[in-house]
Amino acid sequence: MEISDARVLVVGATGALGGGIARALHGAGARLTVTGRDADRLAAVASEVKAPAYELDVVDVERAAATIGEAVEALGGLDLLVVATGVPAFGPAVDTDPAVAEELFAVNTLGATGVVRAALPHLDGGVAVVLSAILADAPTAGMADYSAAKAALTAWLTVVRRERRRSTRIVDVRPPHLDTDLAAHALAGEPPKLPEPLPAAEVVDAVLAAVRDEKATEVVWDRREGLVVR
Ligand SMILES: NC(=O)c1ccc[n+]([C@@H]2O[C@H](COP(=O)([O-])OP(=O)(O)OC[C@H]3O[C@@H](n4cnc5c(N)ncnc54)[C@H](OP(=O)(O)O)[C@@H]3O)[C@@H](O)[C@H]2O)c1
Repeated sequence: MEISDARVLVVGATGALGGGIARALHGAGARLTVTGRDADRLAAVASEVKAPAYELDVVDVERAAATIGEAVEALGGLDLLVVATGVPAFGPAVDTDPAVAEELFAVNTLGATGVVRAALPHLDGGVAVVLSAILADAPTAGMADYSAAKAALTAWLTVVRRERRRSTRIVDVRPPHLDTDLAAHALAGEPPKLPEPLPAAEVVDAVLAAVRDEKATEVVWDRREGLVVR
C-alpha cells in the first residue's frame, strides 16, 4: 500500500508503539486520526501528527464501533487501521486474580477484535495492522493469561485473514520484548527476568515495511534473522 495520502486510524496512539507508528506514518505523508485513553498524551500525539483525536477505552466495544464511524467520517474513508492497544499482567497462573484475567482478555483480545470487527466494513481494499505478541507463538511462564489472550487474538486474526482474503489484508505483528514501558503498566505482578529488549523503533520500521509490502501478513521474530516481514 502507498502510505502517502493514505487515510489511517491508529488505535492506541498514546502508547510507545502506537505513537511511534503514528509519527512514522505522518512522516511518510499519511492522513491520520488517533485514539487513546490518556487525554493528555492523546492531545500531545494528535497535535504532533496533526490528527483529529478520540478518547477511547477499547473495553467499551460499542463506544469503539461508534468512534471508528466518527474517525472514518472525518477521514472520508479508511485505508489503514493500526491497533496498538494492550496491557500485560505477571505472576503464576494459579495466583492470578480472575478479575485481572478477565481484564487481560477484555483489552488484549476482545478490545482489539472489537475494533477490527467494526473497521472491516470500511476497509475494503485496505489493511489492518494489529499488535499481538511473540507470546502467541511462545507462551511464557509468569504470563499465562496474557499469553493466552494474545494467542486468542492471533487465532482470530488468522481466521479473519482467510474470510476477508479478497477485501482486507490483515497484518499480525508479534514482536518480542521491547524497550517500552509496557511492563510498568501491568495490571498486576512483577515481570519475570526477560531477555534483552529490542528497540521499539525496529518494530515501527517493520510495520511500515509490512504496510508497503502488498503480500505481507505478519511481522514475527526469528532468533537468527531478527524481525521478519512475511
Ligand atoms: N513492549 C513490548 O515488550 C511488547 C512486546 C510484544 C507485543 N507488544 C504489544 O504492543 C502493543 C503496544 O505496546 P507498547 O509497548 O507500546 O506499550 P504501551 O506504551 O504501554 O502502550 C499500550 C497502549 O495500550 C493502550 N491501552 C491499554 N489498555 C487500554 C484500554 N483498555 N483501552 C484503550 N487503550 C488501552 C494504552 O493507552 P493509554 O496509555 O492511553 O492508557 C497505550 O496506548 C500492545 O498490544 C502490546 O501487547 C508489546
